[in-house]
Amino acid sequence: MADETIEALLLEQRKFPPSEAFKSRAHVVGTHLYDEAAQDYEAFWARQADELVSWSRPWGTVCEWNLPFSKWFVGGQLNVAYNCLDRHVEAGRGGKVAIHWEGEPGDTRTITYAELLAEVERFSNALKDLGVGRGDRVNIYLPMIPEAVVAMLSCARIGAAHSVVFGGFSSQALADRINDASAKVLITADGGWRRGEVFPLKPQADEALASTPSIEHVVVVKRGGNTVDMKSGRDHWYHDLMANASAKCPAEPMDSEQLLFLLYTSGTTGKPKGIMHTTGGYLTHVTYTHKYVFDLHADTDVYWCTADVGWVTGHSYIVYGPLSNGATQVIYEGVPNHPGNDRLWSIVEKYKVTIFYTAPTAIRTFMKWGTQEPAKHDLSSLRVIGSVGEPINPEAWMWYHEHIGRGNCPIVDTWWQTETGGIMISPLPGATTTKPGSATFPLPGVGAEVVDENGKVVTKGGGYLTLTHPWPGMLRGIWGDPERYKETYWSRFPGRYFAGDGAKLDDDGYLWLLGRVDDVMNVSGHRISTTEVESALVSHPSVAEAAVVGANDATTGQAIIAYVTLRGGAQVNESDLRNHVAKEIGAIAKPKTIYFTPDLPKTRSGKIMRRLLRDVAEGRNLGDTTTLADASVVTELQQRAAQSSED
Ligand code: WT7
Repeated sequence: MADETIEALLLEQRKFPPSEAFKSRAHVVGTHLYDEAAQDYEAFWARQADELVSWSRPWGTVCEWNLPFSKWFVGGQLNVAYNCLDRHVEAGRGGKVAIHWEGEPGDTRTITYAELLAEVERFSNALKDLGVGRGDRVNIYLPMIPEAVVAMLSCARIGAAHSVVFGGFSSQALADRINDASAKVLITADGGWRRGEVFPLKPQADEALASTPSIEHVVVVKRGGNTVDMKSGRDHWYHDLMANASAKCPAEPMDSEQLLFLLYTSGTTGKPKGIMHTTGGYLTHVTYTHKYVFDLHADTDVYWCTADVGWVTGHSYIVYGPLSNGATQVIYEGVPNHPGNDRLWSIVEKYKVTIFYTAPTAIRTFMKWGTQEPAKHDLSSLRVIGSVGEPINPEAWMWYHEHIGRGNCPIVDTWWQTETGGIMISPLPGATTTKPGSATFPLPGVGAEVVDENGKVVTKGGGYLTLTHPWPGMLRGIWGDPERYKETYWSRFPGRYFAGDGAKLDDDGYLWLLGRVDDVMNVSGHRISTTEVESALVSHPSVAEAAVVGANDATTGQAIIAYVTLRGGAQVNESDLRNHVAKEIGAIAKPKTIYFTPDLPKTRSGKIMRRLLRDVAEGRNLGDTTTLADASVVTELQQRAAQSSED
């Protein structure tokens, strides 16, 4: 199947050049930006930092590179919240809408730049009143409400680093992340809206708070209206704090390398990694990419990214990139199918969205729902549409092009990672001829190469995607674990950052991303490690051993398939085990299918043969099984898989 996909990709011959109409008003046409960056990438980034970001003190050195540690715009000072808010208000754009917020039940809020600034100033003071200062960590566990943006920007304003935890993560996952970061304050809500119902957040947070000694205060936004316990002295309502906080909180300059945020992401082994992002380089990277990749014209565009702020996409392309550019954007709280399968398209029509950014898994879901859903609405405002999170298959690309882009919107397929901070490989919509399914080329300023097993550069054909030189938004490390940082990203190919993705170069030099080559699954555009799900399964008292693999899935990209061996005499049903995983990690990590098996296929040295399990899960014929200690295990698993697909 994987091989067939690669073949199919290589047969993809369709090409879509930008239209003359699009080019006539695009920021970038032709190759001048690429040429400039190729001359001297540091000078190129320095120009972006100078033009796109406001500094209160200029930097001395553009980039200090002590492989694998980089510092950007060293000596420079700036405030990220100032860049996202104050400077727009000072320039007379305070009345411009920053956020058109749409709650799932249909309630709305329109927030101008001046209003957002006022709320951030107040909340910055509220945080200070709770004892938060420069260098502290603040955890955020919120639904998609404007207060999430306010909380993040307020941390940035006072120099505290935020660590946002996706609201779908379990209390256990939240507690782990709070403890790893030693966060002082947690900002949460009573609950949020999802599929027509209120989902509780504060009760989940309370469970986590039982084992998070570093937390001194909890701030609770009222959104769901559900009943919550408030622990006196520790827990505070957001609206009470705001009523008592003073209104003015000038933005203080921060060092360019001041920690802006931690964001936890899954790796192949062990606990989630706290990815560190800092101030000046990160802001430069996301401002630049948001402007040029989406061809943003802040005066006229209405931008909408459907991600959650709990993921890096929400950090870089809902909060920091768009606000730094002074854009007007839509933020939507809920699911795409409430009350109907056309909710997103009704929002596009209502706010006349011009730039729309979503994930392939969502596009494949829209395909399943049918073309009549987008057809119910006037989508003619759209002019650029984007994709992120996993490879987009050519069929989904074509559907997106025809039914959402109505044949005349460039598609920007953007490859990047939590670790890269911002987009790295993507078309520029006025400059690049696209091919369905290809992320095309590294952006100006980015160095990417495909290498073989031995680290030799591949100019045609498949291999491993590596990044060849530092970039401003790159992660500065893993919180508390510099060794793991070196080992994970910089050890496989000396001198190169290894992303963990396979990639292929076609005859025209286009890059095709082929998915992860390690034990990280990509489920609906979210990284989940096989080890984490295995640990969650094994923490159940009935489970002796578990092996987890990601199998191709038509909608979610990959689906989590688990093989579980129970302890002698123990019994548990599949749905209880799935719920156990949800409790340990969150609903996104629930296995789609669990096979119970008396044994797992292992090599003679006792290593679980995941490749075989993947073959079984995807219904492939098995290749060489001679290294197996007991080949009958696999035959039995295949029979079970065949049975379950008949059920
Ligand atoms: C992994 C990073 C970047 C924000 C969302 C995910 C995969 C991401 C693409 C794309 C093919 C992609 C990669 C990458 N990925 N975008 N356009 N084409 N694959 O962030 O959770 O850090 O995951 O997502 O496998 O390594 P993340």
